[in-house]
Order: sequence, then C-alpha cells, then structure tokens
Amino acid sequence: MTIILGIESSCDETGVGLTRLNADGSIELLADEVASSVELHARFGGVVPEVASRAHLEAMVPTMRRAFEVSGLSLSDVDAVAVTCGPGLAGALLVGVSAAKAYALTLDVPLYGVNHLAGHVAADTLDHGGLPAPTLALLVSGGHSQLLRVDNLADGITEIGSTIDDAAGEAYDKVARVIGLPYPGGPPIDKAAQRGNPCAIAFPRGLTGPRDAKYDFSFSGLKTAVARWVETRERDGADVPVDDVAASFQEAVADVLTAKAVRAAVDLGIGTMVISGGVAANSRLKALAAERCAAAGIALRVPRPRLCTDNGAMISALGAHLVAAGVKPSSLDLSANPALPVATISV
Ligand code: KG4
Ligand code: ZN
Repeated sequence: MTIILGIESSCDETGVGLTRLNADGSIELLADEVASSVELHARFGGVVPEVASRAHLEAMVPTMRRAFEVSGLSLSDVDAVAVTCGPGLAGALLVGVSAAKAYALTLDVPLYGVNHLAGHVAADTLDHGGLPAPTLALLVSGGHSQLLRVDNLADGITEIGSTIDDAAGEAYDKVARVIGLPYPGGPPIDKAAQRGNPCAIAFPRGLTGPRDAKYDFSFSGLKTAVARWVETRERDGADVPVDDVAASFQEAVADVLTAKAVRAAVDLGIGTMVISGGVAANSRLKALAAERCAAAGIALRVPRPRLCTDNGAMISALGAHLVAAGVKPSSLDLSANPALPVATISV
C-alpha cells in the first residue's frame, strides 16, 4: 500500500490530491482539493500568468492542509510525491515543482515530475479503473485539443493529432466574449445552447475537407466565423440571438471533435475512447460522443466533471501508475518545462 501526494499548478487551479495504490494495482482517491484563481482572471477574459503564479503561492499550503484534513492522513503517511512539471505556464508550474521538491526532500520520499496531459487521461482511471490497451484519448481543455493513442500510462502515449491553432476550450472562451457571456465561456455557452437551435446557423467545420489532415483540429476559422456573423447582425441593427449562436457554435465543435475521434479509433482499430479535459464536461460533446461511439461499437469513458477540469487527484493517480510500473523517479534538480511534449509522461 502506497500513498501518493499529487500537486497541480500548471494554469489557474492549485490542486492537491492524495491517492492510495493498493497491492492489487487498484488506485483509490482519498482527497481532491482545488483552489481556483479563475475569478481573478475573469475581467481579463483569459488567464494572466503572473496573477496565476501569485495565487498558486498563496493557495498551495492551505490547499495542502485541506487535502490532509479530508483524507485523515498526515504528511508522514506519504510514500511518493508527483507534480505537474509541464506543459503549462512557466511561473505557475514553478510554484508546484518547488513545493513538491520541498515535500519530497523533507519527507525523504521519491519525486515524480509528470506530464499534465497524461494526468488528464489518468484521471479517468480513478472513476473507471485501468485503461484497456490501446485506448484512444480525446483531450480537450482550455490549452489543448489532442487525440492520443494510449498504450500504457507509464511510458506509452503517442500523439495522433492536435489543434493547429486554438484549443477547443479557448474557442469557447473567445466566442463567449463575442456574444457577451462571462469567462470561462464553456459553462455559460453550454447552458445557453440548451435553449437554442443547433441548426440555426451553419458554422464551418474546420479541417474536414477531403485533403485536410484527418486527425488534426482547427477552431480559429470557426471563432472568426462566429465573430463575423455577430458583427453583421449588429451592423444591421438586428438583435443577436445568443442562444442560437451558442447552440450552433457548440454543435460545430462537438461535431468535429467526435467525428475525428471516432474516425481515428476506427482507423486504428481501437475499441475504447476516453474524453478528458475541461471541455469534456460539455453536455453536447458527451451526448454526441455517446451516440457516435455506440454506432461504431466503441466503449466510451468520460470521468465525472470535477475530474475533467484541472485537479491534483489526476496527478496523484498518474504518480500511482508510475510507482506501480516501477518507473525511475525524477532527480531533485527537476525543473518546469512549459512545452513538455505529451509523449514524455515523466521526467
Ligand atoms: O482542463 P481545464 O480545466 O484547464 C486547462 O487545462 O485548460 O479546461 C478549462 C476549459 C475552459 O476553456 C472552459 O471554458 C472549458 O474548459 N469548459 C467547458 C465546459 N466547462 C469548462 N467547455 C465547454 N463546455 C463546458 N461545460
Ligand atoms: Zn488541464
């Protein structure tokens, strides 16, 4: 039995998670505490790196205390520390990495510097157990939109495709601003879309032409199309039908994401799909993915919304997979790598 402390600070969430790796290889979630600085960034319409770093500094110790309180564990119970060392915002990552080093050094336990994106995939194992090999992961967040082939969570992740411009969540956040909805844009657009007509406006589906990259995404053209459509309405003095714009935009995003993910799974002969990252909380994405995966005979797994957005539990879970696989820990001179490639699961 091994207790793993997980620390996440790559963007605007300070996350501390505790998991237990049992002798049979199962991983149990014991604590998942998150402090978000999202409200501090709302008026800027996006995350301000320096503000995020400072908020991590202030939140780290209180969040850590809460995680230990909730779990009933004490620091001396910790057997290993896992921390996000990339990709993400340099200053924000450094806060988590520095804290993790301090805990690992003081407690004299191994330290694992891990990949945030692999962590998003590992989050699902807390809800649904080990991943079949191979699994196709669709990772959709504010910073990333990727299709990954996951053979194992210790050292087997390959990128199949990714966005060539905006991430899916970024498109939600930018479109929300255009139609006067608050930041972050995903939840309010999801809500407005439920009242709107998804067929009202035919927004473009990026990179879906016959000669386009099959597994890559592009959301910048869609975002511009929404902005132009809204501008034209406003110039004509007409009301902007916010619910219809939200529903039609959301339909375009969900259509492209699910079509490409299902196509990749079918082409590669992969029978299980995991969707994770903040946008995986989207109601239409989940419904359309369920429909299309069922039609293609693919088993679909989506972690509960709390585990989809950034958290420390997913980092702790990934740490548990690394410990279980006997992966060598990181050295104490570990540094943050804002551009850590997805195939590098631990450093
Ligand atoms: O994974 P995450 O918490 O942070 C990053 O690593 O980026 O994802 C945040 C993103 C934001 O862009 C937010 O607008 C989006 O996830 N999001 C959603 C929903 N909930 C959050 N997008 C669409 N529908 C939602 N329900
Ligand atoms: Zn994330």
